[in-house]
Amino acid sequence: MKDTLSPAYELNTHTYDVVVVGAGGAGLRATLGMAEQGLKTACVTKVFPTRSHTVAAQGGIAASLSNMGPDHWHWHMYDTVKGSDWLGDTDAMEYLAREAPKAVYELEHYGVPFSRTEDGKIYQRPFGGHTTEFGEGPPVQRTCAAADRTGHAILHTLYGQSLKNNAEFYIEYFATDLLMDDEGKCVGVVAWKLDDGTMHVFRAKMVVLATGGYGRAYFSATSAHTCTGDGGGMVARQGLPLQDMEFVQFHPTGIYGAGCLITEGARGEGGYLTNSEGERFMERYAPTYKDLASRDVVSRCMTMEIREGRGVGKDGDHIHLHLNHLPPETLALRLPGISESARIFAGVDVNKEPIPVLPTVHYNMGGIPTNYWGEVLRPTAKNPDAIVPGLMAVGEAGCASVHGANRLGSNSLIDLVVFGRAAAIKAGEVVDRASAVPDVPKASLDFALSRFDDIRHASGNIATAELRLEMQKTMQADAAVFRTDKTLAEGVAKMKGVASKMDDIKVTDRSMIWNSDLMETLELTNLMPNAMATIVSAEARKESRGAHAHEDYPDRDDSTWRKHSLAVVDGEKVDLDYRPVHLNPLMGHNEGGIDLEKIKPKARVY
Ligand code: FUM
Repeated sequence: MKDTLSPAYELNTHTYDVVVVGAGGAGLRATLGMAEQGLKTACVTKVFPTRSHTVAAQGGIAASLSNMGPDHWHWHMYDTVKGSDWLGDTDAMEYLAREAPKAVYELEHYGVPFSRTEDGKIYQRPFGGHTTEFGEGPPVQRTCAAADRTGHAILHTLYGQSLKNNAEFYIEYFATDLLMDDEGKCVGVVAWKLDDGTMHVFRAKMVVLATGGYGRAYFSATSAHTCTGDGGGMVARQGLPLQDMEFVQFHPTGIYGAGCLITEGARGEGGYLTNSEGERFMERYAPTYKDLASRDVVSRCMTMEIREGRGVGKDGDHIHLHLNHLPPETLALRLPGISESARIFAGVDVNKEPIPVLPTVHYNMGGIPTNYWGEVLRPTAKNPDAIVPGLMAVGEAGCASVHGANRLGSNSLIDLVVFGRAAAIKAGEVVDRASAVPDVPKASLDFALSRFDDIRHASGNIATAELRLEMQKTMQADAAVFRTDKTLAEGVAKMKGVASKMDDIKVTDRSMIWNSDLMETLELTNLMPNAMATIVSAEARKESRGAHAHEDYPDRDDSTWRKHSLAVVDGEKVDLDYRPVHLNPLMGHNEGGIDLEKIKPKARVY
């Protein structure tokens, strides 16, 4: 239906029960779950669904299936709590670990082509930080894999199933802003159709943001160029907070120079790291789990080896990952994708030589605060768990908070499907199918359209690519693996300068069709609040926890800092507040839940 609510742009209006923004693993799992229940569901995505960044997920998806040896969801929950460095919300972590097996078997039944054991069960491999016996036993094989292309397999399956269930896809539509009513309820989104330049209003009873992370706020990241924190940007523009943004995960094994991911599954299959002396240095730092310690720990150890002069290469600035001792059949069967990546991006034959690797930005633990149903929170002094009606966030865009200060490898794919599914279950309860789709207040629509129009006609002095590079270099240097008061204070000052230059941005192409200049500028308006929230929250947190390694405060300080950061961003201004960590589980121990004694905070050693 055509509409002319705004004089400047002719609008195409669509009405749905639910609109999901983003078509990665979380977006598709939410879309499928909504559509299966008969909710009229649209999925709006800036890239073709099977090109979403989940396609790049390699190593696998964690669930305590016990296919390769004893396992229990309590052990998975314990590992997740410890991995989070005691910042995750207990209810969300329990929900993740408990629902994981169900969610994986659902994927299997939907058709995900998992690798198999000899007796036909789903194949599972070891991954960092996943253990048995509450961290007292040997590493567990918990990570369910489809070779090293697990995300690819999941994405294709979920897209096919969503189509089968009549979900409607709006592909290559860039969602620019949320539409909110005067009471603070979300009533839809505005989107720009990239291939014909038309503008669209999606009215909905529920909007689900599944827009992924913001890895591209950094210079070197395993994330796709599309990972621009679009959901976080939209939420920030509504004056809503972003949570725990200081926790940015560096994956130990990005290919040196190119940044492409070499899965942790490589170490799960027996790969190991060495320094310039040929030493397997992880044995020194993490005597029990060695190369399979949690990835924040491994990334820090690699950085320390390089700093202390034991890096490899002519500049001594990276580390070697060895797979060349593994049988060629294992590499061909279990790690074909990374064998190819190593050849293309590092010129290395993994059968013969080590791969040059370096810790590389990989994942954002922080994001849009939600409860474990995916409902977005607007914490108040009275109610830190107050929700924003009509709005959900799932996947890397959201912060449930299940990963706390550090995510375990393969807990991301399971987060996507468990919480995508949870959002659909919740929407099935709260979306009233019989009610009318809410109206869109003119002021909200005008805000979205005039912001779009202002950016399209921006005629300042700084090119988008130039300002983006300045942001990326600053974040890379000053919000790095190791941080100090000095680097963070300098970083905040520099980033304030960078963010203030948004007012002087220059867009040279004013057209509406396939305008990558405009698209990248809109993306930069999303990256910037994410980056500002990250560096300001990091500067304020005077402790070390998980991925936030503060050299001036090397210890975790639970009495002061076991709390979630909340950052409300307005341009270069960031207001910080905090909300308590959820300490209560969903199930009591006598109902089959975990023994709380087991997850009491303690020193985090591997
Ligand atoms: O190493 C990997 O395959 C990445 C997995 C993850 O981030 O969960």
